[in-house]
Amino acid sequence: MAESEPSRRGFLARVVIALNALIAIIVATPAVGYLLSPLLRQRSSQWVVIGKATKFVAGVPQRVVYEYDDEGGYSVERTRSVAFVGRTPGDLIVLSPVCTHMGCNVAFDDTAGLFECPCHGGKYDTSGRVVEGPPPEPLRRFQSRIRDGNLEIQLT
Ligand code: FES
Repeated sequence: MAESEPSRRGFLARVVIALNALIAIIVATPAVGYLLSPLLRQRSSQWVVIGKATKFVAGVPQRVVYEYDDEGGYSVERTRSVAFVGRTPGDLIVLSPVCTHMGCNVAFDDTAGLFECPCHGGKYDTSGRVVEGPPPEPLRRFQSRIRDGNLEIQLT
């Protein structure tokens, strides 16, 4: 009988430890899930108004500064960004200013009629197609729509 007492105590101690661990896991799992959920949440695409649709006329692409709420984990930050809006007959094209080579911002050269990248000389036409230099792809084109007279773009 004396030999089984320590092993019974050891067994009971392990059972108590296991039960405590189980309770800790049951209590902690929802709390950890709640704390991490903002980081794990899929960013939803959002439509952002960038101006009155009638303001954009045919001709030179217009540089537009717009604001949107950038949801990053636990915080929402008001962020400013830029897009170029061009109008073709019957269509509005909204282009990102970010060069597809290494991410510099392009500017529109009125004289040449092209978007030009200051970093490595990449050039794009008014529809965003590469016409010269190292960019591997055209400028990114935003999905756009007109709602209540406003031009909106979809951020993803
Ligand atoms: S970053 Fe624009 S050409 Fe290199």
